[in-house]
Amino acid sequence: MKKILVTGGLGFIGSHTVVELQEEGFEVVIIDDLSNSSTDVLDGIEAITGKKPVFEELDLKEKADVERFFKKHHNLSGVIHFAASKAVGESVEKPLLYYENNINTLVYVLKEILGLDASNFIFSSSCTVYGQAEKMPITENAPVQPAESPYGNTKQIGEEIIKDTCKIAPKFNAIALRYFNPIGAHPSSKIGELPIGVPQNLVPFITQTAAGLRESLSVFGNDYSTPDGTCIRDYIHVVDLAKAHVIALRRLLDKKNTSNFETFNVGTGLGSSVLEVIKSFDKVSGQSLNYKFAPRREGDVVSAYANTDKANNVLGWKARLTLDDAMLSAWNWEKKIRNL
Ligand code: UD1
Repeated sequence: MKKILVTGGLGFIGSHTVVELQEEGFEVVIIDDLSNSSTDVLDGIEAITGKKPVFEELDLKEKADVERFFKKHHNLSGVIHFAASKAVGESVEKPLLYYENNINTLVYVLKEILGLDASNFIFSSSCTVYGQAEKMPITENAPVQPAESPYGNTKQIGEEIIKDTCKIAPKFNAIALRYFNPIGAHPSSKIGELPIGVPQNLVPFITQTAAGLRESLSVFGNDYSTPDGTCIRDYIHVVDLAKAHVIALRRLLDKKNTSNFETFNVGTGLGSSVLEVIKSFDKVSGQSLNYKFAPRREGDVVSAYANTDKANNVLGWKARLTLDDAMLSAWNWEKKIRNL
């Protein structure tokens, strides 16, 4: 059984990926600092897969602890690196915290990985690296634009650090997955997203509003140059996204990669407006969401959706689940955690 380290494995995307890895027969070791997650997630993973993954509470900023961890687990076949801070607004307030959390930790992990016999590495990148791309849908060749926030910058710098590492370490193989907008929850409702405080992202805000925790959703801007005036994004079901990680990992393990640093867009290829997301929620929940139009949010791009040809044809992965599937799973999860 191949042993895979998943950093940030108790988080939203990490936990769904651990489930898919275990279901595909991988042995998983999770490290997480619990800064934005809880050990309850381990029970959810066990309830779905019948197996509790090995877990070590570890703060990747503690370099000595990282070194100790890799000495103990020297037989890793691959690392999927999710551990990072991800709130755009907070990153503007606390840039150094973001550079320390997202960059220092990446460097510490990479230094240790280079000491392993086989080093296969999957990195959580983001479509945020494209900024407002000129052409839709966005291909992997679209230029990386100056970052809008320290958070976005950590994704760009992270990719550069990995690319430079690949140049000097021919046995080091890495794939950066550029996620579009991950939403939804596991269909079992045993794991899902657990935003702390007021959610900044659209879908948790919608489900919390419907659950009665928020008064109404503010739709940020209805005067954009889009068919209904609201912004367009590519919403990808977290289960499809999790599967993309397993497929990317297999590509490296099977030595099918054509260079030792590859990037893939992970999206559905479909753009949905904010109003279309609300419509989908209304349909699957049988509710009518309370929303109002509000001014544009600073830093928002008008439109971002993926060209998925490379992921479909080269990686061999395709999103299977729909926006309705994702909204239903997100709503079922919200109802479960609120006892509705
Ligand atoms: C945001 C980040 C992105 C990050 C991603 C991680 C910004 C500008 N971008 O993407 O860098 O990788 O989260 O999940 O923060 N919306 C509303 N009302 C709300 C919340 C959102 O109308 O209360 C709209 C937004 O204007 C946007 C869409 O919903 O058009 C999606 O927003 P969100 O879920 O925050 O994702 P992004 O902004 O695309």
